[in-house]
Amino acid sequence: MNLSLPEVLPAEFAESLARAAPRLGSFAKEVIWYPSVSSTSDAAAVLAERGAAEGLVVAANAQTAGRGRFGRGWASPAAAGLYVSVVLRPEADVVPMLTIAAGVAVAEGIQEATGLRCELKWPNDVYVGTRKVAGILAEASTTTADVSGIRYVVLGFGINVMPASYPPEVTVRATSLEDELGREVDRALVLAECLLALSRRYSDLGQGRSADVIAEWRTRAATTLGRRIRLEAAGTQLEGIAENIDETGALVVQTASGVLRVTSGEVQWV
Ligand code: BTN
Repeated sequence: MNLSLPEVLPAEFAESLARAAPRLGSFAKEVIWYPSVSSTSDAAAVLAERGAAEGLVVAANAQTAGRGRFGRGWASPAAAGLYVSVVLRPEADVVPMLTIAAGVAVAEGIQEATGLRCELKWPNDVYVGTRKVAGILAEASTTTADVSGIRYVVLGFGINVMPASYPPEVTVRATSLEDELGREVDRALVLAECLLALSRRYSDLGQGRSADVIAEWRTRAATTLGRRIRLEAAGTQLEGIAENIDETGALVVQTASGVLRVTSGEVQWV
């Protein structure tokens, strides 16, 4: 992939990140800004391959080929959302919990910046009621089939900040922070607070405090826990009651044929 030329970070983002800098740890010491890029996660992966340090942030005003989970696209109209990817170089034992921690962090960051409380649909879709407001895509590069040979993870998050002309299939399922709050939202503050929360929750994982992350996830999981769900995982469908998440972030589902522990897939409410 050939990277287009980044531009200077717009002043409002630079100021808000400068205010947060003393609390950001290794995060956002370098921020690469694109007015438009295919995908911030693709750009971040290229930079990670070139040796980018942990905490490098790639952000864009628009994406032309934003990617979501399960090979879907992520609508990324100009100036309407936050499109952000962070390079992480975690220890292998932390990797399974990263997606859960990232969902918690984005929900916390949004709440800190705007007051809006969001819920989480397993593992890390960020919802207000039944509409999705933000999504997270964690992509690992490994030298082995499992995470023992982890090289880096690109953690990308997209937040719908302003109402915009989304494709019709997105409009029925999605919402934005401004739609929910009925007022303007400071995109730069949301970015800074999400990175701060991500930095804190990433430290929690690294310092053996995964239980704190899981406890916070559970408080935001009313849309998942205790609910009848359908889940497509590894080509098979299962249905049951989502009972809990375990200490690794796996979803524990009570099905007709017993209790199953699921590590990936998409939850649908039944
Ligand atoms: C999902 O399907 O819920 C995950 C969406 C992740 C979108 C973000 S936007 C920034 C980063 N770049 C991408 O291409 N995708 C992620």
